[in-house]
Amino acid sequence: QKPVYILAIETSCDETSAAVVKDGWEVLSNIISSQIETHRAFGGVVPEVASRKHVEVITLIVEEALAQAEITPDKLDAVAVTQGPGLVGALLVGVVAAKALALAWNKPLIGTHHIAGHIYAARLVKELEYPALALVASGGHTELVSLESEGRFKIIGRTRDDAVGEAYDKVARALGFPYPGGPHVDKLAHEAAEAAALPRVWLEPDSYDFSLSGLKSAVLNLVNQSRMKGQEPDAAAIARGFQESVVEVLVEKAVRAVRATGARQLLLCGGVAANRGLREALTARCGKEGIELIIPPAVFCTDNAAMIGAAAYTKWLHDGGTPLDMVADPGFSL
Ligand code: KG4
Ligand code: ZN
Repeated sequence: QKPVYILAIETSCDETSAAVVKDGWEVLSNIISSQIETHRAFGGVVPEVASRKHVEVITLIVEEALAQAEITPDKLDAVAVTQGPGLVGALLVGVVAAKALALAWNKPLIGTHHIAGHIYAARLVKELEYPALALVASGGHTELVSLESEGRFKIIGRTRDDAVGEAYDKVARALGFPYPGGPHVDKLAHEAAEAAALPRVWLEPDSYDFSLSGLKSAVLNLVNQSRMKGQEPDAAAIARGFQESVVEVLVEKAVRAVRATGARQLLLCGGVAANRGLREALTARCGKEGIELIIPPAVFCTDNAAMIGAAAYTKWLHDGGTPLDMVADPGFSL
């Protein structure tokens, strides 16, 4: 069978990325240009700045992805791009680039969902077995998604307020760490001798949804109370208490969802999959329960185009290409 080569582009937030993926899983190149340094001074991603930065580098990134994969445009089968969700101005840069290339090279276009990308990052590691269950935890998303069959998604739980990564970043900021603060809180949590007492938010007994804002407020209250008394808060204890609360709820709900959907694999996806506490707790629990757990390497967990290529491949097989008049869609649904 003839191999399928997809050039994928991702610009939904603050990473400009292009990749060439063969047959939906073999990564021939995955070039990522991060804007983190630019946004750090503002304590978070500034949408307008993100769009401008994407414009500056997108052409170079695409050229580099083709060069590293040692492939010429005529060998490509399709051009894939993140159509949404994300920052509209940022998405627009990738979408316009992908359309232009698809038109110039006369290749099909595949508008791809960003979360489908995060989920199919797992396919870059291992063949998936359906039904599977994905826990997607990133700066913008916290979702439990059932993959009923290849490319068929059903969201069974989601955050009702802050995303996990967003909560990590806000807690980190209150503790004095720079953006993005998730990794700092993770590290500090592991160094702590004890954990601050913080609530677990379970919501209704049968719910797979999450709520992070109450926990985040509880952390901010602890920090403020200490400072009002003229003391520095015990940052390590707070980090550990926060992390333990988040991890306990994520792990418990994910395992319950695996049971309820009869999933054969659990996929941990999104930038927060880099969290050591979450990886360790989920690995231990899945080992005990006999659940196969797939955690992609960090480079495929944070935003990247290889994951978009993987998701685009399954979409193309099942639904074909996307018309060239498609538009970047910040509210794109799975
Ligand atoms: O998937 P991602 O790169 O971007 C989005 O699509 O949102 O995720 C970035 C998020 C940030 O909020 C960052 O703080 C968080 O992932 N993150 C972590 C860790 N590493 C990254 N959160 C907790 N612990 C970590 N080790
Ligand atoms: Zn993402």
